[in-house]
Amino acid sequence: MLNRGNELDAWDRDHFFHPSTHMGMHARGESPNRIMAGGEGVYVVDMQGRRSLDAFAGLYCVNVGYGRKEISDAIAEQAHRLAYYHAYAGHGSEPSIQLAKMVIDRAPKGMSRVFFGLSGSDANETNIKLVWYVNNVLGRPEKKKIISRWRGYHGSGVMTGSLTGLELFHKAFDLPRAPILHTDAPYYYRRTDRAMSEEAFADQCAARLEELILAEGPDTVAAFIGEPVLGTGGIVPPPATYWAKIQAVLKRYDILLIADEVVTGFGRLGSMFGSDHYGMEPDLITIAKGLTSAYAPLSGVIVSEKLWNVLVKGSDQLGVIGHGWTYSSHPLCAAAGVANLELVDSLGLVANAREVGAYFKAALVDALGRNPIVGDIRGEGLLAAVELSPDPARGALFDPALKVGPKVAAALLERGVIGRAMPQGDILGFAPPLCLTREEADVVVAATKGAIEAVAATLPARA
Ligand SMILES: Cc1ncc(COP(=O)(O)O)c(C=O)c1O
Repeated sequence: MLNRGNELDAWDRDHFFHPSTHMGMHARGESPNRIMAGGEGVYVVDMQGRRSLDAFAGLYCVNVGYGRKEISDAIAEQAHRLAYYHAYAGHGSEPSIQLAKMVIDRAPKGMSRVFFGLSGSDANETNIKLVWYVNNVLGRPEKKKIISRWRGYHGSGVMTGSLTGLELFHKAFDLPRAPILHTDAPYYYRRTDRAMSEEAFADQCAARLEELILAEGPDTVAAFIGEPVLGTGGIVPPPATYWAKIQAVLKRYDILLIADEVVTGFGRLGSMFGSDHYGMEPDLITIAKGLTSAYAPLSGVIVSEKLWNVLVKGSDQLGVIGHGWTYSSHPLCAAAGVANLELVDSLGLVANAREVGAYFKAALVDALGRNPIVGDIRGEGLLAAVELSPDPARGALFDPALKVGPKVAAALLERGVIGRAMPQGDILGFAPPLCLTREEADVVVAATKGAIEAVAATLPARA
């Protein structure tokens, strides 16, 4: 297998349409590709034998780390017994039922049922449909608009790409589509009034949301969707009182809350769910990544008891709900989910994310807090970011043409560590497997310091 590198490289350039990739540069061989071959713990190895500490856990999803035999064995056993059966019309399989029970046992209080899908995007499509269905059943067909945040990330389908508030995911796709609206991101570091306190900034976010609701008409606004901590939009924990203030506005106008916990669910923030972490009381919760640690694709929508009761009323009025995927609760993926959640418990990964996460952030501050191009170091649990700026006190931005973020990520990779240059802004993101040790955190911090210093030395003065 290792000898086939050149052949695979050619096939890759000629035939493989990669997601989120510069198509021309890849096809012409102008950008590096990397063919992964194996992984163990927090490390991955490519076909050339280069080993890297994966401080982004793939796409913040391999939460238990690589090479966990407990999960691959569970998938294999299920494949031998029953590789597939559907879940339509009340059918199921042992792991899908067991996993539903395990998810509800771990979910914030008031949650009742899980609908399984394959990806975070399809789970958010389900959310939108459920919100619309519920308001039709409740006899308020005008209440359909959904408010998301600029910089939110909720997927890249037609509706979920519309929920996403990042330019890259809209450009030339004719998105966003109605009836999706966007409000401010709780991004304190990027505030325009530098003198504003965090508390006042959270008040401003809530006031701007309320203005939007009033301008649109509260009777037309159905739901608000948000990640407990903004992820792909820059890894931005909210001000402490943000969610309480947002929820007060939503309650005032009878607007549902969807917590998109695709990244934060199952321990990433050092709590089982981000909703618990921030005192959110969602009506719907999106889950994916950490549900199986990406050993198999599986997502879900957790439905509150309150909404479930409306859905039941709906099917009594309308009959069978016309929504489902062939692979909803696929038995192989569900078996992966059961084994994964058992590992999260037995390895104490939620507590580890909290403890090593706090250590990691403190070490980043210690190593980089006084660096002249480091503007902000932020994080919660094992989700962290270092934002780069030519003038940290003002939160100024580098000229995007300098590509400072991608250069730092490349310099980090040269030092044996994978971080992610977040897509909007010069932000280096970290979301390592939740089994990261303090010693491994030290490796990430030392490499990050080296990478930032190396890139800073190449920048024009006052870039
Ligand atoms: C918060 C959030 N929601 C939804 C998604 C979409 O998930 P998927 O890529 O599995 O469709 C992502 C993906 O990163 C995400 O971070």
